[in-house]
Amino acid sequence: MLSGARILVTGPTGQVALPVTRALAADNEVFGIARFRDPAAREVLEKAGVTCIEANLAQGDFSAVPTDVDYVLNLAVVKSNRWDIDLAANAEATGLLMAHCRNAKAWLQCSSTGVYQPAGQHPLKETDALGDNHRVIMETYSIAKIAAETVARLGARQWELPVTIARLNVPYGDNGGWPAFHLAMIEAGQPVPLHPERPNTFNPIHEDDIIRMIPRLLEIATVPATTVNWGGSETASIEAWSALLGELVGREVSFVETEQTIGSVVIDPTRMHELVGPTEVDWRDGMRRMVEAQR
Ligand SMILES: NC(=O)c1ccc[n+]([C@@H]2O[C@H](COP(=O)([O-])OP(=O)(O)OC[C@H]3O[C@@H](n4cnc5c(N)ncnc54)[C@H](OP(=O)(O)O)[C@@H]3O)[C@@H](O)[C@H]2O)c1
Repeated sequence: MLSGARILVTGPTGQVALPVTRALAADNEVFGIARFRDPAAREVLEKAGVTCIEANLAQGDFSAVPTDVDYVLNLAVVKSNRWDIDLAANAEATGLLMAHCRNAKAWLQCSSTGVYQPAGQHPLKETDALGDNHRVIMETYSIAKIAAETVARLGARQWELPVTIARLNVPYGDNGGWPAFHLAMIEAGQPVPLHPERPNTFNPIHEDDIIRMIPRLLEIATVPATTVNWGGSETASIEAWSALLGELVGREVSFVETEQTIGSVVIDPTRMHELVGPTEVDWRDGMRRMVEAQR
């Protein structure tokens, strides 16, 4: 882990960022920016020693944010489904905050494998085609994430600020995630949606692996930016993890096929393995722990 550093985290109350921010706050001076709509999440962060600064990314006013930080983890995401807001808050705000923190040693831009053109079971390399992957569930998401990546690349060159763009696949853990939604559906007796092209394969990554990989992701930051997939080293399907979740809570699992859900997004982890190393948490173990934590 990092220690003794000044670290700025955007969106620290989020599913991915909350456990990361708490872990970093143990040995670093951590600042978090968000609107802090959930007072309970803010309290958790403040108890952990995080300085919470209210800022709305859609407005892009960072005057209350320190400029002298060592690292920035851009983990916020704005999903209003309005094009003007989502492009401003995800893409333009990335550039404005980079300008503000231009003297940092490294910037981690959290992106998504939702930037890739859907490719079924093909293991996606970082150089593969981009596309509007998440349109069926969130109209603005993929394009706003691609725009944010592009701004982060520009920022790296403009301010010689080393950047890593990490394309996250399916983050999950004690703090929830997509599989936790499937768990809730299974417990409510609702069918889990599946894309008709079966199986629905992903690379789920546990929050412990996310936390463990962050120092290395910052270390590999470069000018121009480095782009790397960020997912579990092992694939798992929604079918398989739902079956396991059903078994763990003693409920029958049913599925419904629909085009109105995301199809498989499989990463090629070769570059991640070279630059950062493999993940360690077996998805079966991670899902079991998630069920225990969520209950
Ligand atoms: N979760 C996934 O399955 C998944 C998959 C792939 C990639 N990712 C990426 O992982 C990162 C984290 O995602 P997440 O799912 O953990 O996010 P999340 O749970 O939706 O949290 C979003 C965070 O951003 C803050 N935020 C939202 N609107 C804001 C605004 N206008 N101004 C300031 N802060 C704002 C939220 O706090 P307030 O609302 O209080 O402001 C919250 O802290 C993102 O880059 C996302 O694209 C996530």
